[in-house]
Amino acid sequence: MQYRTFGKLGIKGSAFGLGCMRFNGEPSGDSIINEEKAISLIRRAIDGGVTYLDTAYVYLNKTSETVLGKALRDGYRERVTIATKMPSGAVHDRASMEALLNEELRKLQTDHIDFYLMHGIDRKDWDYFKSIGAPQFFDDMKREGKIRYKCCSFHGSYDEFEYILNDYDWDMVQIQYNFMDINNQAGTKGLELAGEKGIPVVIMEGLLGGRLAKAPDNVQALYDAFPVKRTPVEWAFRWLCNHPQVATVLSGCNEMEQIEENLRIFDTVAPGIMSDEELKLMENVREAYLSRTKIGCTGCRYCMPCPNNVEIPRIFSMWNNAALYGSNPGVQGLRRLAEEGKSPESCVGCGACEAACPQHLPIIESLQTAWKELNG
Ligand SMILES: NC(=O)c1ccc[n+]([C@@H]2O[C@H](COP(=O)([O-])OP(=O)(O)OC[C@H]3O[C@@H](n4cnc5c(N)ncnc54)[C@H](OP(=O)(O)O)[C@@H]3O)[C@@H](O)[C@H]2O)c1
Repeated sequence: MQYRTFGKLGIKGSAFGLGCMRFNGEPSGDSIINEEKAISLIRRAIDGGVTYLDTAYVYLNKTSETVLGKALRDGYRERVTIATKMPSGAVHDRASMEALLNEELRKLQTDHIDFYLMHGIDRKDWDYFKSIGAPQFFDDMKREGKIRYKCCSFHGSYDEFEYILNDYDWDMVQIQYNFMDINNQAGTKGLELAGEKGIPVVIMEGLLGGRLAKAPDNVQALYDAFPVKRTPVEWAFRWLCNHPQVATVLSGCNEMEQIEENLRIFDTVAPGIMSDEELKLMENVREAYLSRTKIGCTGCRYCMPCPNNVEIPRIFSMWNNAALYGSNPGVQGLRRLAEEGKSPESCVGCGACEAACPQHLPIIESLQTAWKELNG
């Protein structure tokens, strides 16, 4: 296992951080946790050198923290750092924040949380957290030793990221990042900004939730043609770890084979390890994925709100994801959109969206094609 320095904190952590958001038990795909299996996955990861474990209050129907707490008995707690999170929806004042943190400490069977994160924030959530005094609460809890580091996980635009990063004395930030998301959310600019400030960055969705683990034919052909053979997962993690600002890459594993493969991969990765040829390969891989894009919607939302409530960027994102990664949008999700009147079936062709679109996309026609293909 490679260990990396956490920026200004000066501590070291494993390059592979175990994400405790999945652990699908039986039946797979829902949030029912197979406790025994989850505990053996967690302990195997720690025995293999993982020192960073990421969970959250809400994961797996609020059972993830409890199972992690059980897994960390028998001396495992002392070998790791725990990251868990405060969701904005569960707190509204100091008393509720205190109650939540105490509940999390109880579930995790520990007297302190190493990395405590405001969960999945954007500018709106950050403003909300400020309005209820969360920054002060985090400061106080750090002083009292109930948390060691004040952190957030982020899902929003780069501008929001820059604002939030400059607005508080963060000890660590967690962002979604992978070779496809260089210009999405915080993106490469955000990673570099955090790096300049010495703030360690923990990566989530390094495999886009598993979608980058299976390469489509045109991408696999590029990997196959490269002289050094690696799996798509190895390429994705190697690319991430090449960035010196990255402290830990989280990976949520469902199977022991995935833990074993990731332990092997994170033994071999280090900042600056990729050659020019390898970096070029990853650029070509990105282009090959993007060549499958159905529509150049950037999700800027200038087209919103649609006068007829059609969820235009969401539908285009589903359409692109299906084409790029083979993601199945799910019959239920599509049906719900239609029932709520947010599907292209509600479009009357008024053209307000096309007038507002900075990309000049043929939205009206594309919505109908997208809907047909998604339902096809
Ligand atoms: N704070 C937030 O807002 C937030 C949001 C998202 C995630 N997170 C955290 O970040 C962690 C990582 O995110 P993520 O779980 O989405 O990570 P990810 O690494 O992008 O995706 C995890 C999925 O990748 C697949 N996978 C992992 N290792 C593999 C291997 N060796 N070979 C093949 N497939 C492999 C598995 O999918 P299959 O089993 O389906 O193949 C697994 O469920 C989460 O567990 C969670 O702790 C936080």
